[in-house]
Amino acid sequence: MFDFRPAPDTPKPEAYRQLCDAADALTAGEPDAVANMANVAALLWDFLPDLNWAGFYRLVEDELVLGPFVGRPACIRIPLGKGVCGAAASAGRTQLVEDVHSFPGHIACDAVTRSELVVPVIREGAVVAVIDLDSPVAARFDQADAEGIEALAAVLEKRI
Ligand code: SME
Repeated sequence: MFDFRPAPDTPKPEAYRQLCDAADALTAGEPDAVANMANVAALLWDFLPDLNWAGFYRLVEDELVLGPFVGRPACIRIPLGKGVCGAAASAGRTQLVEDVHSFPGHIACDAVTRSELVVPVIREGAVVAVIDLDSPVAARFDQADAEGIEALAAVLEKRI
């Protein structure tokens, strides 16, 4: 229905600008958080190569609960501070993990995952969700990816 994919060889900062614009357009005026997260998970999957999981965990009371995603079925509840997602949520900071096998407490939802990027979505100073990207490629994500997904989190802050 929509094709938002960037042209091949688009530099990352420009590709992430396009991703943020697409996410903004897809979620504008839509108050349903689940619908918005579902479309953005699909957008991430379409946009970014070499992923095996892309989606959301929402902070519900004092734990993370699985939200809309693309990929294989995943762990449903993650305590704050546990795994990469729990670390991002409890610290309120992006976690860029080049090799998940060397991350203490990493939660292996899919054995093929080698690297991971988790970015908190922060609304009025509080973490409300995390965006989780997993890749079967070691060191798939770099600082440009982290900054791009942080910009996406800022777009989504009031839409999820
Ligand atoms: N690996 C994550 C758990 C979520 S799944 O990868 C979808 C973690 O350690 O937080």
